[in-house]
Amino acid sequence: MNRVWLRWGMLLTMVTGAWAADPVAPGRRGMVATVQPVATQAGLDALKAGGNAVDAAIACALTLGVVDGHNSGLGGGAFMTLRLADGSLWALDGRETAPAAARTDLYLTNGTPDPRRSQDGALAVGVPGELALLAYASTNFGRLPMSRLLEAAARVASNGFALDRHYASRLDATRQELAAFPATRAIFLKPNGTPWQAGDRLVQTDLAASYRALAGTGPEWFYRGPFAQRTDAWMKANGGVLSAADFARYTVRVLDPVQGTYRGWEIVSFPPPSSGGVHVIEILNILENFDLRALGDRSPEFVHLVTEAMKRAFADRAHWLGDPDFAPVPMGLISKAYGQELARQIRRDRATGVSGSGVPPRATNEVFAGDISRHTTHFSTADAEGNWVACTASLNTSFGSKVVIPGTGILLNNHMDDFSIQPGIPNAFGLVGAAANAIAPGKRPLSSMSPTLLLRNGRPVLSVGAAGGPTIISQTLLAILRTVDFGQPPGDALRGPRFHHQWRPDELHVEAALGDTVIAALRALGHTVVVEPSLGAAQAVGIEAGALVGAADPRGEGSAAGW
Ligand code: DON
Repeated sequence: MNRVWLRWGMLLTMVTGAWAADPVAPGRRGMVATVQPVATQAGLDALKAGGNAVDAAIACALTLGVVDGHNSGLGGGAFMTLRLADGSLWALDGRETAPAAARTDLYLTNGTPDPRRSQDGALAVGVPGELALLAYASTNFGRLPMSRLLEAAARVASNGFALDRHYASRLDATRQELAAFPATRAIFLKPNGTPWQAGDRLVQTDLAASYRALAGTGPEWFYRGPFAQRTDAWMKANGGVLSAADFARYTVRVLDPVQGTYRGWEIVSFPPPSSGGVHVIEILNILENFDLRALGDRSPEFVHLVTEAMKRAFADRAHWLGDPDFAPVPMGLISKAYGQELARQIRRDRATGVSGSGVPPRATNEVFAGDISRHTTHFSTADAEGNWVACTASLNTSFGSKVVIPGTGILLNNHMDDFSIQPGIPNAFGLVGAAANAIAPGKRPLSSMSPTLLLRNGRPVLSVGAAGGPTIISQTLLAILRTVDFGQPPGDALRGPRFHHQWRPDELHVEAALGDTVIAALRALGHTVVVEPSLGAAQAVGIEAGALVGAADPRGEGSAAGW
C-alpha cells in the first residue's frame, strides 16, 4: 500500500494510537478506496491479478461483507454506477424488493405504526439483491471469475480479521438487539454474551462456507437453492412473510443512470429507486444560479445557500420519490428551469420555511423509466483502461434486521424500513414519505444511496458516494461542490466540514469543524442548528496531476490503495 500524503495517516495515528492505513493514495494502473483496509487490499489484489475496476469492486463488496458485515453484505442490497472503458454508462439496481405478501398495513397494529417491526427481526427483511448485482456485473463487465473473488473473501472469513474500533463500537451499541437471535449471538457475541472488542479476531466459519458454496454453485445456491429454502423455513417459524418464491423472483434491474450537468461538468448518478442522483442533480441545478466560488466553502453564506437548496430537494423527495415501476417520478425534478424556479425562492438574508414539495414542470407525463431491460458502505474503483465504478451497498441500519439465518453466517437487511410505513411517519433516519414510497409487493424501497461519477468532456474525473442515510445525498453533493467550485483534490473534498438539511425535521446538522463563528452566523440567519462531531463516511477516486488518486473518509478507518 502506498504511503504518501502522510498527513492523514499521521492524524489517524494520533487518534487511534496505531498506524491506520492511508486514506489517500496515488496510482496509475488502478485505484480502490473503501472503509476497511482488508477490503481495499482485496480490491487491489483483484487489479493486480489482471482484473479490471469492476472485478476490484466485486472483490471489495464481497470482502466488506466479511470485514464490515454490520454495514453491508450478501443479505443486503446495492447500487452500482459504472462508466466502462468504451464510454458506456450503466446503473445496476440490486436494491431489495418487498416480499409478495407485503401490504401497506404490514407494520400497523390496530392502525398504529410500529417501526420496531420494520427495523428488527423477520418482517424487516426485503429480498436481498447485492449478490444478483455482483453476479451480473461479473458476468457482463468483469474479467476474473467471481468464484476466485468469493474464495479470497472466504479465506478472510475463515481465518478471521481483527475488529477495528468502529466495528467494535457498532457491536457494543447493538448487542441487546443482536442477542435476541441465537445464530446472530453465536457469531457476534462472546459465549458470555458480551460483544467482541476492538483488536479481537472475528472468525466467521459459516459465512466462509456460504461463500464457498456460492463459488461452487453460483447465485442459484442463494436465490433458488439451500439459502432461499432455509430462509423460507426460518421466516415461517419466526413470523416473517419472506418466502423462497420471493427469492426465485428476484432480478437485478439494469437502468440508465440519471444525468445532469453542473457548470459544464457532467454528473452521472443513480436513478430511482434511489433518490440520490435525482436530488444531487436537483440541488446542483439550484446552486448553479449562485456564485459559490466567491463565497468560499466554509462561509455562512455558502452553508446557507446550500442548505436552502437541500431543504427544497428533500421536500420534493418526501412527495415525489419512489420505485418508478410503481410510482411516476417526474423527470422535471432535474430540469434546469425547475432549478431556477427554486433558486428564485431562496433569500440570502434569512432561512425560509418550506411548506411542502414543489411542482416540477411536466410533473405528470415525463417520468423516470423503470427497467430498460437491457449502516451502508460506499467504495470506488477505477483502472487505467478507463473503467470507473461507484458502488454503495447496505444492510440499512447497523447489522440490518439482526437476523442471521442459522448455519449460513449471512446477516439479513432491514430495508423494509426505507419504505414509508405510513404517510408522515418517520423511518429510522427521520425521513417521511408519501404514497410514492408506500409498501407494495415486489416494490423497491426508496433509497438515498448515491453512487455518482463526475465527468469532464466525457472523461471521468471523480467516483464518489457515501454512507449515512439521507446525509449520503449531502455528502456526495458537497464532494462535487468542493471539486468543481473550489478545485479541491479528492482527499480535501472529503475532509471539508459537512452539513445536512433534510427538510423534516427542520434542522441544519453541521459538523463542529465548521467553527463557532460560522455556526453563530447560521443561527442568526434563522437556522435551527444541531452540531455533530462528524457526519457520514464517503469514499472517492479521482484524478490529480494526471494520475488516479483514491481517498477514504478521514473520519473513519478506511484506506485507499493504488498501483
Ligand atoms: O438506502 C438508504 O438510503 C439507506 N438504507 C442507507 C442506510 C445508511 O446509509 C446507513 N449508514 N450509515
